[in-house]
Amino acid sequence: MRGRVLVCVFLLAGAAVCFAKDYSGWLKKVPQKDRVQVNPYAGQASAIAAGANLYRDNCAKCHGENAEGRRGRPSLRSDQVRNATDGDLAWILKNGQMFKGMPSWGGLPEQERWQLVAYLRSLNIPEPAAANPAGAAR
Ligand code: HEC
Repeated sequence: MRGRVLVCVFLLAGAAVCFAKDYSGWLKKVPQKDRVQVNPYAGQASAIAAGANLYRDNCAKCHGENAEGRRGRPSLRSDQVRNATDGDLAWILKNGQMFKGMPSWGGLPEQERWQLVAYLRSLNIPEPAAANPAGAAR
């Protein structure tokens, strides 16, 4: 199901307890005016490189070196992140989800948040073989 990640805890007895963790709540909070914001640095190699450095310094400890997610922190290579708009991602970076463990990055310059968004996008571009014809026409 979109936005749900199955988290399993393996017990010593070999049994597994699984529960669905839903990371999609924040998407419903993004105001339309923020959702439609356009990343001024989208696709720029220098912004992606700067975003990768910012990611390593600020985000990797929670979301993993390769953004694969770790210890209950979501992967940033998910369909949910792929389907979010640049504006959605900029919004969660600015506001965080304090009570769910995602800090606010409102203290960073706006330019750096957009560089992070450019970097996240670079991770989520589907492999050419997986691209569908409708997507290619965009
Ligand atoms: C202290 C740990 C922590 C750090 C550091 C952190 N995050 Fe998060 N992040 C989280 C958690 C926990 C969530 C899930 C929030 C929720 O459940 O709504 C999250 C959610 C997100 C999401 C939404 C994911 C989704 O599936 O909807 C994005 C995007 C994101 N983080 C990006 C970043 C970026 C970029 C940075 C670095 C600037 C960062 N995070 C730093 C813990 C962290």
